[in-house]
Amino acid sequence: MHEFVRLGFADIDQILSIEEAVYSHPWTRGNFSDSLMNGHDAFGLRDESSQIIAYFLVMPVVDELHLLNFAVRTQNQKQGYASAMLKYMREYAIEHGYGSILLEVRRSNYRAIEVYLSDGFEEIGRRKGYYPLEGDAREDAIVMRRLC
Ligand SMILES: CC(C)(COP(=O)(O)OP(=O)(O)OC[C@H]1O[C@@H](n2cnc3c(N)ncnc32)[C@H](O)[C@@H]1OP(=O)(O)O)[C@@H](O)C(=O)NCCC(=O)NCCS
Repeated sequence: MHEFVRLGFADIDQILSIEEAVYSHPWTRGNFSDSLMNGHDAFGLRDESSQIIAYFLVMPVVDELHLLNFAVRTQNQKQGYASAMLKYMREYAIEHGYGSILLEVRRSNYRAIEVYLSDGFEEIGRRKGYYPLEGDAREDAIVMRRLC
């Protein structure tokens, strides 16, 4: 397995090309740069050609890490990278004194929900209409937390 590295502004182009391929409602360049400017931490994995394979962004909220974005490049899905990212995230959280990791996930994102459940996350609530769908429709978020 490759090594995790911190990602920054110079990586936004590569992150965007993954983001736009894997999400129905991707973050924009502005969302990523605002997040980094706000001091959120971004980490990822690169392949032998230095291309990003997977990435995540987290925001510290007091003693909890809030997972903001989490994705694996299409051609590298189902190879264990999401599990590896969650393991690294937990180690990072423990090392920096965070007691838990919190996330929101679309109710219909069964694949991601399965990955989070397998890693020990539990549903702690729902946020009604949290995510946009097509047109005016909205989709609920499942809120999940994992103690570190
Ligand atoms: C959700 C997502 C991050 C999962 O990433 P992934 O790298 O495919 O996940 P993993 O490979 O770590 O684990 C997924 C499955 O692959 C399996 N797997 C792991 N290594 C494997 C291997 N070598 N061969 C086959 N399967 C493998 C895992 O056991 C797991 O199986 P399960 O779904 O039956 O539990 C990815 O699909 C993605 O980026 N989706 C779009 C963005 C998104 O929805 N992000 C979440 C936002 S909340």
